[in-house]
Amino acid sequence: MDRNNMQSLYYSCWRLATDSNALQALIAEVETNRSNTAISELERKFRSLTHLDVGFTPGNYYTPRCIVYTELIETPELSMGLFGMSTGCNFPIHDHPSMLAATFVLSGRLQYRNYDILSRERGGVINLSLCMEGEARGGELLFLTPKRGNLHQIQALENSVFLDVFIPSYNDIDRPCTYYQEIAPNKVASFVPQLPFKSLPYVGRPLY
Ligand SMILES: [Fe+2]
Repeated sequence: MDRNNMQSLYYSCWRLATDSNALQALIAEVETNRSNTAISELERKFRSLTHLDVGFTPGNYYTPRCIVYTELIETPELSMGLFGMSTGCNFPIHDHPSMLAATFVLSGRLQYRNYDILSRERGGVINLSLCMEGEARGGELLFLTPKRGNLHQIQALENSVFLDVFIPSYNDIDRPCTYYQEIAPNKVASFVPQLPFKSLPYVGRPLY
């Protein structure tokens, strides 16, 4: 059966979400910095995507001081979404509890900082250590895992759009998304940010 590029990516992600051996193999590659079969396969699928495949139109996704979001799919096992950020827009530090996240930059330039958790204190305070930082441009794929770089901050250095895959999905029970602000060097406290979000419907190719 011929699959379009979105279906091809979706089925690879779904396999990771439902086959714990496949997921652990990918996490092991990410955590040991050894890109092998699992990362390469996923990278190939992401890199084959065109703007038409994901239904991305620059004019719609770059709104000043606003994060534009399109949900592609959300199930307990997996979620996929498209994010647009205009130059200067900042996604504060936030976590992805017990999750793998893959971020593929479709276009633009992002600055990212990922942190590991060193210890937790009362009142939602966490001691962090910077695990990786850099700039990612169109065509680059970033990962974070339950243990490595699980908290991150993203800033758009240029108008940027990226596709996120979460395995499993956030939920309100045991995997909520918590935002943090720095209260001292390498120390953050949870807070509720004022994040202006705008939602757009998905107009890309069918996922399944
Ligand atoms: Fe994130």
